[in-house]
This record gives sequence, C-alpha cells and structure tokens, in this order.
Amino acid sequence: MEAKLMQLQSFCILLLMVLGIIVRRRRKAHVRIMTVAMMWDVILILQIELSRSAILTATKALSNPLILNIHISIAVSTVILYGFMIYTGKKMLAGEVSIRSKHRILGYSTFFMRVFTFITSFWAVVPKE
Ligand code: HEM
Repeated sequence: MEAKLMQLQSFCILLLMVLGIIVRRRRKAHVRIMTVAMMWDVILILQIELSRSAILTATKALSNPLILNIHISIAVSTVILYGFMIYTGKKMLAGEVSIRSKHRILGYSTFFMRVFTFITSFWAVVPKE
C-alpha cells in the first residue's frame, strides 16, 4: 500500500515533467513546474528513506538486491542531473544563450532517467509475504 502511494507520487512527478517540457517556451511556467517537480521528487526520496527500515523489516527484503541497486543508482543519477538542470537553467535566465543546447540535451536525458527510475521501481519493490 505504501509502495503504491509512492509510485503514484512518482507518476505524478513524471506527468509534471511532461507538462514542464510541453510549456518549455513559456519560461515562467517552465521554471515553476520543473522546480515543483524536482522538489517533490526530493521529498519523495526522503519519504522512502524514512520508511525504508520499516518496509525492510515488514517484508524481509534484500532477496533481490541487484535490481534494487540498479534502481537506486538511476534514481541518484537523476537527482545529480537535477543539479545540472538548475545550473544551466539559471545561466539561461541570466542571458547565456550558448548554454541552451546543453540544457536541452541534459533536460531530455534527465527526463529519460526519471522514466527509468519509475519503471525500475516496479521491480525494486519487494512484495509482502
Ligand atoms: C528536470 C528539469 C528540467 C528539464 C527536464 C528541462 C528541460 C528543458 C527543455 C527540453 C527546454 C527546451 C530547450 C530547447 O528546446 O532549446 C528547456 C528550456 C528552458 N529551461 Fe529548462 N528544464 C528543466 C529545469 C529548468 C530549470 C530549473 C530552469 C531554471 C532555473 C530552467 C530554465 C529554462 C529556460 C530559461 C529555458 C528556455 C525557455 C525559452 O525558450 O525561453 N529549466 N528546458
């Protein structure tokens, strides 16, 4: 149940990102939507981290650590990419037009990494016995 709630949040964050990409030409809306999406994602990670010990005890997890490790690695890389998105986005807002292609490539990479995080989360969850 708890995992389902987190995956639902994860999906909403993905939808927000899609919306943010759709409105990418409207700066104000784009920056606001992406900021909310990234902040929500960090809050989601904190929720998972805080409830993890409870989940582990309840499910006798660690039966499939490989996919869990892959999932965590992709999720952590995505959050690192958020840092680059903020950095290149702020530069663009400050008028540095030349950084645009970098922001675009990093932006689509970040989005795809986030999609992979969502997909792998379904294998990373250990079902209750
Ligand atoms: C995960 C987060 C983000 C993603 C996936 C993302 C993605 C994108 C994409 C794909 C574009 C279009 C680039 C192009 O076609 O040339 C864009 C434009 C832009 N982004 Fe982001 N972005 C993100 C976060 C941010 C943040 C945090 C900021 C500001 C601090 C920002 C500022 C901008 C600006 C100023 C533009 C140009 C808008 C215009 O056309 O005037 N982005 N972004």
